Amino acid sequence: MDNLLVTGGAGFIGSDFVHYVLENTDMSVTVLDKLTYAGSLASLEGLPAERFRFVQGDICDASLVTELFAAHDAVVHYAAESHNDNSLSGPAPFVQTNLVGTFTLLEAARATGTRLHHISTDEVYGDLELDDPDRFTESTPYNPSSPYSSTKAGSDLLVRAWVRSFGVAATISNCSNNYGPRQHVEKFIPRQITNVIDGVRPRLYGDGRNVRDWIHADDHSSAVLRILERGRIGETYLIGADGEKSNRDVVEIILEEMGVPTDAYDLVVDRPGHDKRYAIDWSKLRDELDWEPRYRDFRAGIAATVAWYRANEAWWRPQKAEAEAKYAVTGH
Ligand code: NAD
Ligand code: DAU
Repeated sequence: MDNLLVTGGAGFIGSDFVHYVLENTDMSVTVLDKLTYAGSLASLEGLPAERFRFVQGDICDASLVTELFAAHDAVVHYAAESHNDNSLSGPAPFVQTNLVGTFTLLEAARATGTRLHHISTDEVYGDLELDDPDRFTESTPYNPSSPYSSTKAGSDLLVRAWVRSFGVAATISNCSNNYGPRQHVEKFIPRQITNVIDGVRPRLYGDGRNVRDWIHADDHSSAVLRILERGRIGETYLIGADGEKSNRDVVEIILEEMGVPTDAYDLVVDRPGHDKRYAIDWSKLRDELDWEPRYRDFRAGIAATVAWYRANEAWWRPQKAEAEAKYAVTGH
């Protein structure tokens, strides 16, 4: 596998994967990205020009997608509308990109025989009670809650059907919440870090006790590369790093690392349908593909992420006012 196509490679996790692959392998990478509000060419700066190419385009554009599939050995599909709050205020682009876009890629994979890895989320499984001893596994029934997670669930099911019915050579991974550099400031951790930089108190939805299972984006990238290289066609792999934390715990760590009193945050109106808890059992990935996460110290990872946002205000400042204007409408 010498030549990868990465959809959504100008977004948070896609760009992390592109950096990871170019730093750790000899592969060449083409990014296909529409550059929506969430995509940034600044996230792709500093890559080796002889092994990297950028194509601006829409994954729903069948002729462009088919031409690109034919010219690459494998495709890793990150492109999506990714933010739950946006899916509640305007679901239409989620249906278009996450469902029609994935369908378009699957038809191109069918026509060209190109290997496809589909990136998905643990949110397809719905949520767990805070005191549930279980975690999500590959056999947990799908039960998505939001327009975002239901379109991701639908895209997973399309992939499964195209594997079984048409023999498309695809794998799927469902990962928990990512953190790290270059994440859009609409998301929880960068929103709170940049609020504190701006002297604004962090805002927690509801009672702040919802739990997310955090993983560093570089660990997600190493897992995806491992699945691409060694995963069994037709299989689904869950990706996680035992990072369960309540939103209160996360914000208190951020505040402490930023030298602000740990109670200096506010509780605000809850997200409609807010999932309580996600938790990933990633033992299949460990046992079958011998993968382990490297970033096990969440506090150190947050400290590095805070340092990145402090040092890269030019990257995030252009996003901030628009993201906060959207939150002002919903009371978040
Ligand atoms: P993001 O919103 O930061 O980036 C999405 C990228 O896709 C952007 O660059 C955007 O321009 C591009 N894009 C959107 N619509 C497109 C279209 N129609 N055609 C081409 N490009 C388009 O998202 P992210 O957080 O990096 O998530 C990437 C993928 O990972 C998504 O599929 C998401 O469901 C999945 N995922 C995210 C997380 C997380 O914690 N962020 C966890 C698990 C899975
Ligand atoms: O689990 C994987 C998913 O994680 C991905 O599929 C999604 O693409 C990604 O956005 C993320 O979804 P969440 O909804 O969990 O992430 P978000 O950053 O929006 O919120 C994380 C938690 O923090 C959630 O419980 C809501 C809460 N929150 C969020 C914001 C923006 C707050 O309390 N305050 C906030 O200001």
